[in-house]
Amino acid sequence: MKIVRLPKELQKLALQVRQSGRTIGLVPTMGFLHAGHLSLIDEAKKRADFVIVSVFVNPVQFGPNEDLDKYPRDFEHDRALCEEHGADVIFAPAPGDMYAADRSVWVEETQLSRGMCGALRPGHFRGVCTVVAKLFNLAQPNVAVFGQKDAQQAQVIRRMVRDLDFPVEIVTAPLVRDADGVALSSRNKYLTPAERERARVLSRSLMAAARGELDCDGLRKAIEAESDKVDYVVWFDADTLEAPGPDTKCILAAAAAYFGRTRLIDNILIQVKK
Ligand code: PAF
Repeated sequence: MKIVRLPKELQKLALQVRQSGRTIGLVPTMGFLHAGHLSLIDEAKKRADFVIVSVFVNPVQFGPNEDLDKYPRDFEHDRALCEEHGADVIFAPAPGDMYAADRSVWVEETQLSRGMCGALRPGHFRGVCTVVAKLFNLAQPNVAVFGQKDAQQAQVIRRMVRDLDFPVEIVTAPLVRDADGVALSSRNKYLTPAERERARVLSRSLMAAARGELDCDGLRKAIEAESDKVDYVVWFDADTLEAPGPDTKCILAAAAAYFGRTRLIDNILIQVKK
């Protein structure tokens, strides 16, 4: 497995791989890999000949009061896991090599990114779209794999790919949970044992909603009772990220809430019975 630090070096390597007739799978991550990320790498391995995992804590998707500096990092741990899961390359650039000091171009999705995390984290999805567009240009993937855990992000990226004609297939891999139901996230590391216990309300109540035992209001009340602050609870059409209508095939029930100082997100997809 090769470790590439420079963007132009990755692009050169990717073009050589494509010219040799092999397909490329890209798994964009911010590192501190867990089983959820590994399932994305495994999915990319099934779908492409050559797998690139990017490990880059993207500064431009963090707001001024967010956790950029304390976002967990452990490159050696990430390197070992990527190697174990058969990645061909880790791309781990320095922020200064990814972004010129006088950069002036952004990629912005303006519809699907308005609500949910986009409403509470201004500029977040602009930062995500910009780095993902750059990663697509550098890694030249045929297929890129994202996690359903970040349901809104996956939809925003699908829209970016559609509207800007990136020749990349987007695959969304299922959300992975720990044995206690908590969705895997690098930020779970911040939780105290008591906060973690309370955080179980997210998966518990989303699953109850999927069984038809809670509506959106009931979901909000259940999460409010256990969390320190609810950012949002939504019940949306999974494709449009708007209120469901007569054509809705699948509901996205999603929530973001704080446990202590840690903000967690979780969601579940509910097929609409017709
Ligand atoms: O989901 C993430 O970890 C990040 O938002 C991504 C897609 C790697 C872009 O920095």
